[in-house]
Amino acid sequence: MIKPHGSDTLIPLYVEDESQRKQLEQEAESLPSILLNSAAASNAVMLGAGYFTPLTGFMNVADAMSVANTMHTSSGLFWPTPVLNLVHDTALIGSAQRIALRDPNVEGNPIIAIQDIEAIEELSSEQITTITEKVYRTKDANHPGAATFMSLGNKVISGHIQVLNYSYFRDEFAGTFRTAVEIRDEIGERGWNTVVGFQTRNPMHRAHEELCKMAQAATNADGVLIHMLLGKLKPGDIPAPVRDDAIRKMVEVYFPPNTVMVTGYGFDMLYAGPREGVLHAVFRQNCGCTDFIIGRDHAGVGDYYGAFDAQTIFDDEVPDDALDIAIFRADHTAYSKKLNKVVMMRDAPDHSKDDFVLLSGTKVREMLAAGEDLPKEFARPEVAKILMNYYQSIN
Ligand code: ADX
Repeated sequence: MIKPHGSDTLIPLYVEDESQRKQLEQEAESLPSILLNSAAASNAVMLGAGYFTPLTGFMNVADAMSVANTMHTSSGLFWPTPVLNLVHDTALIGSAQRIALRDPNVEGNPIIAIQDIEAIEELSSEQITTITEKVYRTKDANHPGAATFMSLGNKVISGHIQVLNYSYFRDEFAGTFRTAVEIRDEIGERGWNTVVGFQTRNPMHRAHEELCKMAQAATNADGVLIHMLLGKLKPGDIPAPVRDDAIRKMVEVYFPPNTVMVTGYGFDMLYAGPREGVLHAVFRQNCGCTDFIIGRDHAGVGDYYGAFDAQTIFDDEVPDDALDIAIFRADHTAYSKKLNKVVMMRDAPDHSKDDFVLLSGTKVREMLAAGEDLPKEFARPEVAKILMNYYQSIN
C-alpha cells in the first residue's frame, strides 16, 4: 500500500490503550487547562486520527513561518499549512510543562488532549499577515478562512500532544467518521490496490458523481474513497448530516456495489483553495489513496482563487517528490445537452457554454428555498429530494 506522508507507518496521536487513556484523563484533571478554538480542536482530531502524519503536535513559530513561506517545516518536511494552537491569553498556564486542552465544540468543554509545552511564543502582526497572505492568498476579512485565522489570537503554544477522544465526530457521525488508520485497514481488507480519493463538503450532484466514475476509469482504480469534511463550515453550506444522507443515497442507487467507501473526517474547512488542496492530498495519501481528484475551484470560496489554482499549485510549487499520491486533474464538468450525458468540458471542444446545464451554488440554493425542483441533468432526483426536504424545513 502507498506509504503515509513522511513516514513508513501512520502516526496517530490518539491514545489507543484504554488504561493509559484513563490514567491520562485523570492526570489532565490536575493540569492547568485552556479552551481551544474550534480550528485547533479539529487539528487535535486530525492529529489523533493519523491524518496529519508525520506531525506529532502543534507547530512552533519557526515551523509555522517556514511552512507558510516555503511549504516545508524548518527541518525540511513538506507540509502545506501551519498547524497551530493559537490562543489570546496564556496567563493561566504559568510555568506548567503539560496542559489539558478543552474542546469548545462539546457541551461542558471536556478535555480532548494533553499537550507537552515545547514553547509559548508570540506571532507579531506582520507574521500573522504573512501567514494569512501565503495560506489564503488574501487578508480580506470577508474571506471566511482568513477572517477566522486572524481572530484566533497571537500566542502560539507548541508541542507534542496525546489525544483522548475524537470530539463530537465519533458520536454524531458514527457511521461516517473514520480515522486514517481505519480507512487504511478497510482498504487492506477489501484488497484494493489503487484507490481514488474524493474530497467534498457538498452533497454530490451529477458532476461530482461522474468525476468519481471518470477518475476511477482513468486510473483503473479498484475503488473510490468518498471522504467528506464533517467539521465546521461557513454559514450557508449544507450541514454535514444532510450531505451525508444525500451522498449515501447517491452511492446506493448509482454506483456498482462494493466500489465506493463513504467516509468522513473531522476538520474545519479552511477555504484556502490551492494550499488546502495540497493539504487534502496529504490526508488522502495518509488514508491509503493512490490518486486524488482535484477539480474546479477545489476548496475555494467566492472569487478568491482561479478555477484551477488548486491544480497548478502542484505544477508550480509542490516539488515532484514531495508526495507519492497522484493528482487526477479534472476540468469543469457538467451535463451536455448535445451529448445527453455529463462530460468534462475539455472532452467537448465543439461545445459553447449554452450547450451545458450550468447552475451556480447560489442558484441551486434559491431554487430549493423556493420549492423548485432541481433539473434532473444537474442532480439525481433522490439527492434533490433530500436537499429539498432540508431547505423546506429551514424556511
Ligand atoms: S470542496 O470545497 O470540497 O472542494 P466541493 O465539494 O464542491 O467543494 O468539490 C469537491 C471536488 O469536486 C473538488 O475537487 C472540486 O474541485 C470538484 N468539483 C466540484 N464541482 C465540479 C465541477 N462542476 N467540475 C469539476 N470539478 C468539480
